[in-house]
Amino acid sequence: MKNEKDTSLVNDIRNTFLWAADRVKSCSSDIPAVHMVKAAVDEIKDEIRVVKERDPAATSDIEVLLLYSGLHAVLAHKVSHKLHKKGHYFSARFISQAARALTGIEIHPGATIGKHFFIDHGAGVVIGETAEIGDNCTLYQGVTLGGTGKDTGKRHPTLGNNVMVGAGAKVLGPFKIGDNAKIAAGAVVLDEIPADCTAVGIPARVVRCKNEKVAEKANENLDHIHIPDPVSQELCRMREQLHRMEAEIARMKAEKENTSSQS
Ligand SMILES: CC(C)(COP(=O)(O)OP(=O)(O)OC[C@H]1O[C@@H](n2cnc3c(N)ncnc32)[C@H](O)[C@@H]1OP(=O)(O)O)[C@@H](O)C(=O)NCCC(=O)NCCS
Repeated sequence: MKNEKDTSLVNDIRNTFLWAADRVKSCSSDIPAVHMVKAAVDEIKDEIRVVKERDPAATSDIEVLLLYSGLHAVLAHKVSHKLHKKGHYFSARFISQAARALTGIEIHPGATIGKHFFIDHGAGVVIGETAEIGDNCTLYQGVTLGGTGKDTGKRHPTLGNNVMVGAGAKVLGPFKIGDNAKIAAGAVVLDEIPADCTAVGIPARVVRCKNEKVAEKANENLDHIHIPDPVSQELCRMREQLHRMEAEIARMKAEKENTSSQS
């Protein structure tokens, strides 16, 4: 019974959208407002297709349109970015903050985002003002494209095309993540990652490039686990000094005994 109600509600909503889309289609494109609405409808359809391609859990267009917060945040950003570029900073920020309240995703209106951008799940995603994102990128929940607090001007990262950033990863600073790179869930990236590479860990190190494992040697200056222990190094130095002093004392004793036996 409940399922029947659900289905008829979904059908009603879908029919309303189809009717509205039909009305728009039948209007003349010569009128600028109609042209704008048609372009917006096409863009939304395109974004829905992207979500359905990348999320196997998405079942229908209407589900994606109404229930995917990543899509809502991306659509809101398209509006806020246009306003930002025209200098309407307050209204741009207002829309981005309203979208953040609704979706849990904060995209600064100044961020530049390419085509077919997908944010899966969404909660906790933060994208800074000077971040740039290429085409076909995917971010998961909890990702930050932020600054370190040390830079001014361009402070946020630039993602190439087809970049994937895993859940909870932090990419901090004004450097580039190359095309087709993958950033592992939970990684903290503080430096450039070349194209076609996978980076994991904190701080992130490249573990795979063009489908080949990267030898640990290439990462040895980034290995923050197998670092020398400064306390044991100091103990070694003291032990050496002690040996030298013992030898010196023994030599002095021998010298003294020698002189006393001669006299
Ligand atoms: C990194 C990732 C993209 C896999 O990329 P890949 O190029 O296929 O790399 P591999 O799976 O071959 O892993 C390479 C190495 O990194 C390690 N690794 C993979 N993911 C890691 C992670 N998140 N943290 C630390 N190490 C990781 C692997 O264990 C492997 O180590 P090994 O070479 O010592 O065996 C994937 O593991 C990942 O993190 N995806 C994010 C997905 C996500 O966020 N999903 C959220 C859904 S809600």
